[in-house]
Amino acid sequence: MSADNPTRSTGNALKHVCIIMDGNGRWAKKRFMPRFAGHKAGLSALRKIVASCVEEKIEVLTVFAFSSENWRRPDKEVGLLMELFTTALSREVKKLHEHNVQLRVVGELSAFSEKIQTLIDEAVALTSENTGLVFNIAANYGGRWDIMQASKSIAVKVQSGELDINDIDENIMEAHLSLRGLPEPDLFIRTGGEKRISNFILWQLAYCEFYFTDTLWPDFNKKIFLEAIDSFHARQRRFGRTGDQLKEE
Ligand code: IPE
Ligand code: IPE
Ligand code: MG
Repeated sequence: MSADNPTRSTGNALKHVCIIMDGNGRWAKKRFMPRFAGHKAGLSALRKIVASCVEEKIEVLTVFAFSSENWRRPDKEVGLLMELFTTALSREVKKLHEHNVQLRVVGELSAFSEKIQTLIDEAVALTSENTGLVFNIAANYGGRWDIMQASKSIAVKVQSGELDINDIDENIMEAHLSLRGLPEPDLFIRTGGEKRISNFILWQLAYCEFYFTDTLWPDFNKKIFLEAIDSFHARQRRFGRTGDQLKEE
């Protein structure tokens, strides 16, 4: 049970939370500010949610920072997002390291500048031995890309004889996806009011619980996060079984 809320039920094990941090642009527009101001405010919201995950002892947090489709935005916005990513990687990693957070970045990283790729490599190397929260940043990530790259790696192993085609099963697929080795997301949160996946994690969302809120990402805070967690704990995860079967267990 949580120290903040002793009445919170912990019916379901919550190991992995994934978040589509949406609504930065609308948050800024409402304030007659440039969209970029919304992205900056979004970074502050993220900082607090990472801290909340550490406090709540969540094992894994995966956030959607930049989708493989976000390159379609105006060049200026993409450029500013890359600058923000660069600044965040340079300035935030030390703090994460101090909190024992293990940082990983998932996505097709070769599309990023050399500078960003170097910063990612350094951040990942610095925090790789940390044993606290695993914090995945999905950047130039797409769920379809992930399944495709896993399929290609498996095909290469079949071609070379390292793997037999009849041995391909869900475990083999899982072991080649970007989030391999981690528990599957239990709770998916999307802020900003849209009710879609937008090509975020696909394979591992098969049995995830969804929570949608109209709150725009920069306004998202620990209170709303805990509401989402409470909602998760109040659900019955049946994984195909009947409710009566679960009561018998
Ligand atoms: C999410 O906020 C951040 C990124 C996609 C990088 P948006 O920028 O999509 O904000 P809205 O949806 O336009 O309000
Ligand atoms: C999804 O948000 C991607 C991120 C939050 C990084 P979008 O704002 O890009 O999603 P769509 O385009 O509305 O589906
Ligand atoms: Mg959006």
